[in-house]
Amino acid sequence: MSKQPYRVAVIGGDGIGPEVTAAAQKVLEATGVAFDFSHFDAGDACLARTGRALPQETLEGALAAQGVLFGAAGASAAQVILRLRAELGTFVNVRPSKAYQGVACLHPRTDLMIMRENTECLYAGIEATLTPDVVTATRLITAQASERIARFAFEYARDHGNQKVTAVHKNNVLIKTDGLFLKMCRQVASEFPGVPYEEALVDSVAMRMVMKPEQFSVMVTTNLFGDILSDLAAGLIGGLGLCPSANLGPKHALFEPVHGSAPDIAGQGKANPTAAILCGAMLLAHLGEDKAAARVEAAVEACLAAGEVTTDLGGQLSTEQAAQAVIARMG
Ligand code: NAD
Ligand code: IPM
Ligand code: MN
Repeated sequence: MSKQPYRVAVIGGDGIGPEVTAAAQKVLEATGVAFDFSHFDAGDACLARTGRALPQETLEGALAAQGVLFGAAGASAAQVILRLRAELGTFVNVRPSKAYQGVACLHPRTDLMIMRENTECLYAGIEATLTPDVVTATRLITAQASERIARFAFEYARDHGNQKVTAVHKNNVLIKTDGLFLKMCRQVASEFPGVPYEEALVDSVAMRMVMKPEQFSVMVTTNLFGDILSDLAAGLIGGLGLCPSANLGPKHALFEPVHGSAPDIAGQGKANPTAAILCGAMLLAHLGEDKAAARVEAAVEACLAAGEVTTDLGGQLSTEQAAQAVIARMG
């Protein structure tokens, strides 16, 4: 019996979002793996048209799919992507950044895997106005979410050659919240004696990532630090156009480039589709299609090495041409 096609929801969104998800979809179709793509609306344009940045139909489509490919949203991004992450129950945002041959970067030995906690911290949305001149945001940290993300990071590190895990925190100031986060990281670390473990303050980590990124492998951190450090990591390897991410939970998975809607280049066919295509590779791996995932990654790497790239990386290709170059390299 032939396999049922994988049901994938595509949410292109705003700006370059639809351009890069279309490129990723073409590459996925070219793998020969059977997909059934359905497209859904979200973001600023959708909000203007329908009064909702994330319509119920889109949410239901995402919940019903085996995987979601998300592009980007604009000003309404928080209403869209944060809600999707929450509704899909994705507790970790896996954000890899590695240097590629042929792409100018600060340190060719950069190979980072940032495990960003996806449900709490300052993203819990607990803000209050005390007086018109005094406002607050509450940093929510729980033992359960901290333990869950730590366990995910350690399991990943163990399964990938016992790589070192660095817990990134600001416990010298955030005594209670990062105190609890670190307590849970240490507890989980004790169950993985084969995995090297260290703790480091986020400010010094930012400096060390720029100067010696090879000191880090798997980094586990709270939501906001993970957001900031993943853009920093993108900057280390040649820019946001290169970095995919996977939001994973027990039931659902959503794949999105780390970048946003890039209004400065939207609609010009200039967007680098690499991040979105690598999201496609992460989706394939998630579905158990490891061979196809490896083929996509190898083709992307070959294109980068050969300079078959978009203008942000010094090449001359359009978004569409860059996707076709990857497809050609897949053979
Ligand atoms: P951005 O990531 O959209 O762009 C930052 C810079 O990187 C821009 O100069 C842009 O041209 C460049 N860039 C980004 N992706 C690129 C690609 N694939 N190819 C080539 N160049 C690329 O960040 P921003 O400008 O801070 O935000 C723009 C909008 O995107 C904001 O409204 C923000 O809220 C939203 N945003 C959405 C998401 C999301 O939907 N997940 C993520 C980040 C930002
Ligand atoms: C990201 C983005 C989002 C975040 C925004 C747009 C809500 O910056 O995916 O990194 O902060 O998580
Ligand atoms: Mn971000």
